[in-house]
Amino acid sequence: MTASAEKYTRQTLLDVQPLTPSLFSLRTTRDSGFRFRAGQFARLGVTKADGSVVWRAYSMVSSPFDEHLDFYSIVVPGGEFTSELSRLREGDELLIDRQAFGYLTLDRFVDGRDLWLLATGTGVAPFLSILQDFEAWERFDSIKLVYSVRESCELAYQSLIAGLEQRDYLAEYAGKLQFIPVVTREQHPGALNGRITTLIENGELERAAGLELTPEHSRVMLCGNPQMIDDTRQVLKARDMNLSLSRRPGQVAVETYW
Ligand SMILES: Cc1cc2nc3c(=O)[nH]c(=O)nc-3n(C[C@H](O)[C@H](O)[C@H](O)COP(=O)(O)OP(=O)(O)OC[C@H]3O[C@@H](n4cnc5c(N)ncnc54)[C@H](O)[C@@H]3O)c2cc1C
Ligand SMILES: NC(=O)c1ccc[n+]([C@@H]2O[C@H](COP(=O)([O-])OP(=O)(O)OC[C@H]3O[C@@H](n4cnc5c(N)ncnc54)[C@H](OP(=O)(O)O)[C@@H]3O)[C@@H](O)[C@H]2O)c1
Repeated sequence: MTASAEKYTRQTLLDVQPLTPSLFSLRTTRDSGFRFRAGQFARLGVTKADGSVVWRAYSMVSSPFDEHLDFYSIVVPGGEFTSELSRLREGDELLIDRQAFGYLTLDRFVDGRDLWLLATGTGVAPFLSILQDFEAWERFDSIKLVYSVRESCELAYQSLIAGLEQRDYLAEYAGKLQFIPVVTREQHPGALNGRITTLIENGELERAAGLELTPEHSRVMLCGNPQMIDDTRQVLKARDMNLSLSRRPGQVAVETYW
C-alpha cells in the first residue's frame, strides 16, 4: 500500500501500553480534520529503516468525538507492519491517512432492537469505539458485547468496558449493556468456554445473554478472525440472518481483519 504525502498526516504517539508480549494499545494525536464514524478504520503508516513506508488498516478504539486516537494491536512475529509498530515509543511519529474507511457502522442497519457485537482478539477495537459513542445506546434496547480470546490475559480494555455505563453521557442508558467474555483455551471464572460458533449452535450464548438471536430483533456485527466470520455467518444464515446490504437490508455486518 502506498500513499502520496498529501494523503496522510504525521501524528505523534502519546502513549504505548503493553497488555501481553503480543498485544498492546497505543494513543496518538489526532489531526483536527480527521473525521470518522464509530466502527471505521484508518490506514496507519510506519517508516522502515530503509525509508520506505508500510501501511495497514487499523480500527479506531476511541470515539469520533475524542481529541486523540486510540488503537489496539497484535504483534505478528516477523510481521512487516507490527514489527515496526511495536518498536515505536512515546514521541515517535505515526502516519495516518486523512480519510477513514469501512462499513462496520450502525448505519448498516435500518432497524432492530438488540445489538450483538461479536469479536475475536483485536477485533474488539471497532466495538469499543461504537460503545463510546451515543448512537448504539440510543437506538437499541439492549447491547451484548461478546469478546472471544484464547487466554484470559488477552481480554483487553476491561476497565473501559466496565466503566462505560458510569460515564456521565451514557448514565441514562445504564443496564442496556451486557459484557460476555469468552475464553477458549482455559477455564476462566465469569467467562464462557467455547467458540462463538459453538456457543450459538448449542444455545449457551443466548442463555448467558437471556435473549434469543432472531431475524426480527437482532442485529449482529462480527469482527476479527476471517474464519470466525465465515463460520458465524453460516450459523446465522441457518437462522435466516443475512448480511445487510444497501439494496437488501439484513441483520449482519462484518469486518475481516486478514
Ligand atoms: C479493516 C481492517 C482493520 C484492522 N484493524 C486492526 C486492528 O484494529 N488491530 C490489529 O491488530 N489489526 C488490525 N487489522 C490487521 C492489520 O491491518 C494487520 O494485518 C496487522 O497489523 C499485521 O500486520 P503485519 O504486517 O505485521 O502482518 P501481516 O502480513 O499483515 O499479517 C500476517 C498474518 O498475521 C495474522 N494477523 C494479522 N492481523 C492480525 C490480528 N489483528 N489479529 C490476529 N492475527 C492477525 C494473520 O494470520 C495474517 O495473515 C485490521 C485489518 C483490516 C483489514
Ligand atoms: N494468542 C496467543 O497466545 C498467540 C500466541 C502466539 C501466536 N499467536 C498468533 O497470533 C495470531 C492471532 O491470535 P489471536 O489469539 O489473537 O487470534 P485468534 O486465533 O483469532 O483467536 C482469538 C479467538 O477467536 C477464536 N476463533 C478462532 N477461529 C474461530 C472460528 N473459526 N470460529 C469461532 N471462533 C474462532 C479463538 O478460539 P480458539 O482458541 O478455539 O482458536 C479465540 O477465542 C494467530 O495467527 C496465532 O497463531 C497467538
